[in-house]
Amino acid sequence: MRTHFCGQVDEHSAGKAVTVAGWVHRRRDHGGVIFADLRDRTGLVQVVFDPEAKAVFEAAETLRHEFVVRVAGLVRERPAGTANANLASGRVEILARELEILNRSEPLPFQLDEHVSEEVRLRYRYLDLRREAMAKRIRLRHEATRALRAYLDGQGFVDIETPMLTKATPEGARDYLVPSRTHPGKFFALPQSPQIFKQLLMVAGFERYYQVARCFRDEDLRADRQPDFTQLDIETSFLSQDEIMGLMEGLIRHLFKEVLDVDLPNPFLRMTYAEAMRRYGSDKPDLRVPLELVDVADLVAGCDFKVFAAPAKDPKGRVAALRVPGGASMPRSQIDEYTAFVARHGARGLAYVKVNERAKGREGLQSPIIKFLSDAAVAGILERTGAVDGDLVFFGADSAKVVGDALGALRLKLGADLELVAHAWRPLWVVDFPMFEWDEEAKRWMAMHHPFTSPANLDPDSLRSAPGDALAKAYDMVLNGSEIGGGSVRIHSQALQSTVFDLLGIQPEEARRKFGFLLDALKYGAPPHGGIAFGIDRLVMLMSGADSIRDVIAFPKTQTAACPLTDAPTEVSEQQLRDLHIRVRLPPPT
Ligand code: AMO
Ligand code: AMP
Repeated sequence: MRTHFCGQVDEHSAGKAVTVAGWVHRRRDHGGVIFADLRDRTGLVQVVFDPEAKAVFEAAETLRHEFVVRVAGLVRERPAGTANANLASGRVEILARELEILNRSEPLPFQLDEHVSEEVRLRYRYLDLRREAMAKRIRLRHEATRALRAYLDGQGFVDIETPMLTKATPEGARDYLVPSRTHPGKFFALPQSPQIFKQLLMVAGFERYYQVARCFRDEDLRADRQPDFTQLDIETSFLSQDEIMGLMEGLIRHLFKEVLDVDLPNPFLRMTYAEAMRRYGSDKPDLRVPLELVDVADLVAGCDFKVFAAPAKDPKGRVAALRVPGGASMPRSQIDEYTAFVARHGARGLAYVKVNERAKGREGLQSPIIKFLSDAAVAGILERTGAVDGDLVFFGADSAKVVGDALGALRLKLGADLELVAHAWRPLWVVDFPMFEWDEEAKRWMAMHHPFTSPANLDPDSLRSAPGDALAKAYDMVLNGSEIGGGSVRIHSQALQSTVFDLLGIQPEEARRKFGFLLDALKYGAPPHGGIAFGIDRLVMLMSGADSIRDVIAFPKTQTAACPLTDAPTEVSEQQLRDLHIRVRLPPPT
């Protein structure tokens, strides 16, 4: 149909006859001459319709936005002063000799350069994807998966598919279930990850596996979460934790070099979970923000201010400070806003000290709580936070969890508000995660990564006696405050796996019923193995500078896990339900 793509027509084609095809991006009437910008996947080219070619001109008069056309014509240089430097084809135009309208378009529900709600964008996603910014991100995603595959292929990894209709996989979310017609009353679960299958592939001897895998999790959605999302899922045998991490760093360095021409550090920084929580209040610290939490419990444990003294003395409590450079000029209303902000993260207040003139001692400070603190405590706090004249120091005092959550979030907010976020890529590994977390509601231990993760520091007996002290051979890769991947060395001994199930309160019969096939496999010569999964959507979101993973997924779901394009999920017919032996019980209307 065509001899050239629109974006390819340039000075070199001047004087040549070309045929292009695409969409009418814009159309302008200019005193008897019609200009149309024609768009295809490579870009735009300007087409001129001259009234002298009468039939073609009359056809051009009927053109509207987004008509699909084929144009044959002669390429010529644009008159001096009319070149468009923003277009590859900006120095030339096509003088049309033939125009074929391949299809018409009704007026679009929105203009492609217009800002419209995401609901509308998702309903007409095929139009939204015509926007250059969207198309670019989807192509970048393709470049990214291609680079990831190329690296892994080069390292001897084998791409193997695993089932979608399967059994529950414990990644901590709710399952999406699929009723079985042939087994009345029974259900498949869509995989939350291919975790168990990839371990079985290691038992099977493949040694190096990967898959660009769809995962399904019914959980509360956020900007970086989708109910179905894509992992680059990887597993290896006979590699130590360090070897796996080294290989995976290489993968991400390759990705950034190939796709963005960015050199990431070699090696990546490594930080323990404990250090990340202490300095940043988060297990996915954004290292682009220079602010850090500083512990001051020892300095205030003896003070008269109960708000500080009580958590300072409580082993589960924490008192931490956060220095804000130049914050002394912050008006009261702004401090109140930050107080409301940390309240959303559970904090009951946000004490502060403004450092007007440090040399003047107490006189030089301004704070509602300073009267409760000893000279030594005040001096210690200023010393430790490194506060100088003009700074402000915020305080959080509560359980360690609340303080970390609140000051960790405040740290990021201050970083953004005060424009302290470095323009850089700051990857790191977070390691030495606790093996288990105590779930206060359920009154039982939960696996922090998943139940197949190997303990790092304890033998099975000590594991039983002090599960809270166990560290896991687990590692997360974090980039600019986003968890882009997580993995672990796995348990490959059946006895140890049973011990861990037991500690997690999974009774032997339940373990058999749910994971019997894995426990069996571990009996038949399972090699030492481990792996990782990267969130491809999150990676591409970061690489493309998008704010939401929905912007790098061609057909994503809304925050309420629905698809405005297809209207899924939908009701199904009575007959289908009958075939599946299902009766629907709707909740009472609210
Ligand atoms: P994990 O649950 O940490 O590990 O998931 C791995 C990575 O997948 C991404 N991710 C998500 N992305 C978008 N939407 C979601 N709902 C979502 N949930 C997770 C994150 C995360 O780091 N089987 C293990 C991996 C392993 O141990 O090898 C697993 O699934 O970027
Ligand atoms: P109050 O004595 O409750 O009026 O609080 C005095 C100051 O301490 C105010 O600035 C509060 O915002 C702050 N504050 C109260 N509770 C906490 C807390 N748990 N952590 C940090 N600051 C607090």
